[in-house]
Order: sequence, then structure tokens, then C-alpha cells
Amino acid sequence: MRTLVTGGAGYIGSHLVDRLVHLNHEVTVIDDLSTGNLTNLQAVHSDIRFVEATILDADIVETLVGDADVVFHLAAAVGVGHIIEQPLRSLVINTKGAENVITACVKHDRKLLLASTSEIYGKTAKMPMSEDDDRVLGSTTIARWGYSTAKAIDEHLALAHAEHGLRMSIVRYFNSYGPRLDPRGYGSVVANLMRQAIDNEPLTVHGDGSQTRCFTYVDDTVEGTLRAALDLRGEGKIFNVGNDHETSIIDLATTIIAMTGSSSAVQHISYEQRFGKGFEDTKRRIPDVQRARDVLDFNAGVALQDGLQRTLAWWRATHR
Ligand SMILES: NC(=O)c1ccc[n+]([C@@H]2O[C@H](COP(=O)([O-])OP(=O)(O)OC[C@H]3O[C@@H](n4cnc5c(N)ncnc54)[C@H](O)[C@@H]3O)[C@@H](O)[C@H]2O)c1
Repeated sequence: MRTLVTGGAGYIGSHLVDRLVHLNHEVTVIDDLSTGNLTNLQAVHSDIRFVEATILDADIVETLVGDADVVFHLAAAVGVGHIIEQPLRSLVINTKGAENVITACVKHDRKLLLASTSEIYGKTAKMPMSEDDDRVLGSTTIARWGYSTAKAIDEHLALAHAEHGLRMSIVRYFNSYGPRLDPRGYGSVVANLMRQAIDNEPLTVHGDGSQTRCFTYVDDTVEGTLRAALDLRGEGKIFNVGNDHETSIIDLATTIIAMTGSSSAVQHISYEQRFGKGFEDTKRRIPDVQRARDVLDFNAGVALQDGLQRTLAWWRATHR
């Protein structure tokens, strides 16, 4: 099968590309390398076609989509950090760029997998979060909600086109972590804490650290993505793709300190110090994983300790 992966030089995208190559698919990647990196594709570089371009270029996107059977749309300005620092750029990429991809899939009748996010649910207190739940967001004056809103527009657009025949499925990722996460990137908490622990720096925890997340090892993230895209039973549906084991950030920090044998201590910093005034965080974020289990037979099974060990092994092998 011919596949196109937008954002394929990024963290999740490059793992997906590895799997697609391994499964003998023909893979094309479009990436502008804004946060992605060619070293992520080192192992498969000679097996794929890499196009350095932006998804804002509708003509290039249309040509590449036309050459593919299935399109995995992962390119995005990712994460709260980028959205707060560059709200306009992020909104344009995450709406206009996605629209280019979706429109090209419609035009060429190509299957679309849209990568979305648990941020969609906003600050809802309802746990676990189910795919059809209400979204609870803050004011438009708080920049972080722009990411959730842009991804929601993408979902709406894909769902609306599906009513007119677009074959598509949507995955909402929950805190993916693993090798290739870039601690200089948008602020993945696992990557930041691991780097700090290895460098024997204080591990910075926002607030009191009692906020929880469900950390999902990247192999599971990729497996859920593949199943949602390629299993016909997933067509037209939205899936939470995440591990439903809840971990507080303070527990994550102490686990990483123990695992790395670091002499670091935990340093609490306020949200305001890190993200500026008026920042709103979500206290908990737990996926309801029933639909992915029922429809795709998918279960994010890699335990946190195991996934952290694998991430650490990669880190030690590549950061000398
Ligand atoms: N990592 C997570 O836990 C997580 C959680 C929820 C959703 N997601 C979604 O998963 C997808 C992949 O995220 P990631 O974590 O791998 O982040 P990433 O930053 O590593 O990957 C994004 C990729 O898109 C590329 N890109 C950005 N703007 C582009 C543009 N205009 N044109 C072409 N390429 C562009 C970047 O260079 C990068 O390679 C994104 O859609 C993101 O919203 C990730």
C-alpha cells in the first residue's frame, strides 16, 4: 500500500514510518522539519521518499495525497508550549494545513487518518473521557485552548466530509512518550524530567505535582494509529488511543529519579512562572479505552516502568 505520513520526521510520525516500512508499505513523508528531525528517519531513509515541505503548500499536498492510498495526518504545531509562544503560526498550521490535507483526501478519494489529541476534552472533570463527551474549554483569551479548538475544527471538518463519503478515522492521543521525544520540544514531561535526572539537575514539577496523566508508550500509540487507519471496522469513528493507568507527575518524577540513579531533587515551580499569567492546566486526563478495545481489539499494554526503561535505554545510547 502507498502511504503518506505528514509530520513523519516527528516523534510519533517517525515511529509510525518505521512500522509502515517494516510492514512493506511504500512510504512518503512530508515534513518541514520545524520540530521534526531527519535523524529520526535514519534507519529507514533509503526505504522512503522524503519531501521537505510545508503542509501549507496546498499544491504539494494535493500531489502527494494523490500518489497515496492512505494518508496519516500527523503534521502539526504540537503542544501547549508552542501554542502559547506562537499562537498565530500554530493556529494556521493546525487549521489551514489540516484543511489542505483533508481537502486533498476528499478530492482524490483517499483514506485519511487524522491525529487528534486528548486536549480536545479541555478541562472537563468527567473521568474517564469518552469519545462522545462534552468538551469543556476556557476563554479564547487563554491561548492554550487554541490547540484544542484547532484540532476540534479538523475533527469537525473530517466528520462533515465523511457524511459525503470521505473514508476517515480519528485518533486522540493521550501523552505519548518514548524514544525520540525531544526535551527541547514542546515540553513533554517525560523527556524533560528524564533529561534533568540524567544531568543531575533539579526535576521541575509544575504546581504540587498532584495533577495526573495517562502515559502511553509510543509503540502502543503507533499500534492504535495503524489499527484505526487500516481496520475497516474503525472507519468513520473517533478513538481514544491511550493507556488508562493514571500517574501523578510527582510520582513520575520520583520514579525517574530512582530509575536513573540520579542525585537530583524535585523542584516545584508555579504554572505562572512557567507559562505566564492566567494559565489553566487540566488536573486529570484519563481515556475511556472501551471503544478501541471493542472495535479494534486494541489495548495499550506497555506498563510505565517498562516504557520508561526502554526510553532510558535509548537516551543513554544516543546522548553521550
Ligand atoms: N505526543 C503526544 O503525546 C501527542 C498528544 C496528542 C496529540 N498529538 C498529535 O500527534 C501528532 C504528532 O505529534 P508529535 O508528538 O510526534 O510531535 P512532533 O512535533 O514531533 O511532530 C510533528 C511533526 O510535524 C512537522 N510539522 C509541523 N508543522 C509542519 C508543517 N507546516 N508542514 C509540514 N510538517 C510540519 C514537524 O516538523 C514534526 O516533524 C500531532 O498531530 C499532535 O497534535 C501528540
